[in-house]
Amino acid sequence: MDIRLGIIGFGGMGKHHAKHAPKGGVKVEAACDILPERVEEAKQEGIKGYHSVQELLADPEVNTVILTVPNHLHKEMAIKAAAAGKHVITEKPAALSVAELDEMEEACKKAGVCFTAHQNRRWDKDMLTIKHAYDHGTLGKIFTIESKLHSGNGYMHEWHLYKKYGGGMMYDWGVHLIDQILFMMPDAKIKSLYADVKNVLHEEVDDYFKIIMKLDNGVTVHIELSTYILKYQPRWLAGGDKGTMIVENLGGGKGAIYRTGKMLEKLPPQITETEAGPTRQFAPVPPGGIVEEALPKIESDVLEFYRNFKDVINGQGELLVKIPTVRRVLTVMEAVMRSAKTGEAIFLE
Ligand SMILES: NC(=O)c1ccc[n+]([C@@H]2O[C@H](COP(=O)([O-])OP(=O)(O)OC[C@H]3O[C@@H](n4cnc5c(N)ncnc54)[C@H](O)[C@@H]3O)[C@@H](O)[C@H]2O)c1
Repeated sequence: MDIRLGIIGFGGMGKHHAKHAPKGGVKVEAACDILPERVEEAKQEGIKGYHSVQELLADPEVNTVILTVPNHLHKEMAIKAAAAGKHVITEKPAALSVAELDEMEEACKKAGVCFTAHQNRRWDKDMLTIKHAYDHGTLGKIFTIESKLHSGNGYMHEWHLYKKYGGGMMYDWGVHLIDQILFMMPDAKIKSLYADVKNVLHEEVDDYFKIIMKLDNGVTVHIELSTYILKYQPRWLAGGDKGTMIVENLGGGKGAIYRTGKMLEKLPPQITETEAGPTRQFAPVPPGGIVEEALPKIESDVLEFYRNFKDVINGQGELLVKIPTVRRVLTVMEAVMRSAKTGEAIFLE
C-alpha cells in the first residue's frame, strides 16, 4: 500500500516533508494551512492545497497525515486525524505533556491507526558517533557524556516566543537532545536528574538549560543549550577510562579520539613547575603522551524514517520511533521543569 500523505501546516517543516518524504517512498498528496499564501505554495508544488484541516481530512486519497503545525495544536490535530481514520505522524515535540500524549495514543489505538513522531535526530551522525563508542567500548567504560549546543544565532521567532503555542527551547531542541541520550543508551535507567532552566534573552520562554542525569550504567550525562553563548562549543564529549572522544560539529565528521598510555597510572611523585603554578596532574603532557585517532566512519540516512513508516503500514517490521520512547522523553522533560522550579534533584526511574 502506498503512503499518501496529507501535510497539516505548510510552513518550514511542512515544506521540508513535501521535499524529502518522496525520496523515502512516501507520496505527498495534499497540504493544508490557515494562511492562503501557504495553500498557494502547496499547489505550486503540484499537491492539493486546502484551507482547513477538515477539508484535508475529508480527502479519501489521504491515508496518513503529518502534523507540522505549532506544538500546541498537535494533540487536537492528532485526535481529529485518528477519528477520520488517518495514520498519524506528529512532529516533535509529539505533545506538550505526557497526559496529552496519552490522549493522542488512546485516540489512535481506538481508531486502529498507526502513530509515531518525527524524532529525526536519532539519525544525526554526530550523536551516532558517540553511540558507536558506547556500543563498541571504544573508550573503555564511559563515565561522562556531554551534549552541548551553543550559538549566538539562536533567537527564537514567531510562535516559538510564546508559551501558549508550546514555544521555548525545551520544546524545540530539548526534546531532541533528551531523546538522543535515551536512544543512545536505551537500557540505562535514570537514577537522578538535576536541571537549571533560564530565560536569558527571551521574556516568556526558556532559552537556556543545563540538565545533569546520573544513569545506572555509571554514565553522568550533561546536556546544555543556550541561545546566547556566542562561540560554538564541541557538540559532544565522551570520556571513558580508555580514551576521550570529541565530536566537534553538528552533523559529525570533525573531531578525534584521544588516548594516553599512562591513563590512570600513577604519575611520578613530583611537582612540575608551570606558568600556572606548581601541579602534579595538570602539567603539560610530554610530546607523544597523548595520541589522536580518527573518529569512526558513521553511515546514516534519515530517509529511513519514511521508509520504515511505509514498511510498518504494509505489515513489515516495527516502528523505529515507538510511542513509549516518546513518552519517556516527555516524562524526563517534565522532571527537568520540576527540578528547575524547585531547585531539587528528581529521583526518576
Ligand atoms: N524535526 C525537526 O527537525 C523540526 C524542525 C523544526 C520544527 N519542527 C516542528 O515542526 C512543527 C512546525 O514547525 P515549523 O518550524 O514548520 O513552524 P512554521 O511556523 O514554519 O509552520 C507552521 C505552519 O502551520 C500553519 N498553521 C497554524 N495553525 C494552523 C491550523 N490550525 N491549521 C493548519 N495550519 C496551521 C501556519 O500557518 C504555518 O504555515 C513544530 O511542531 C516544530 O517543533 C521539527
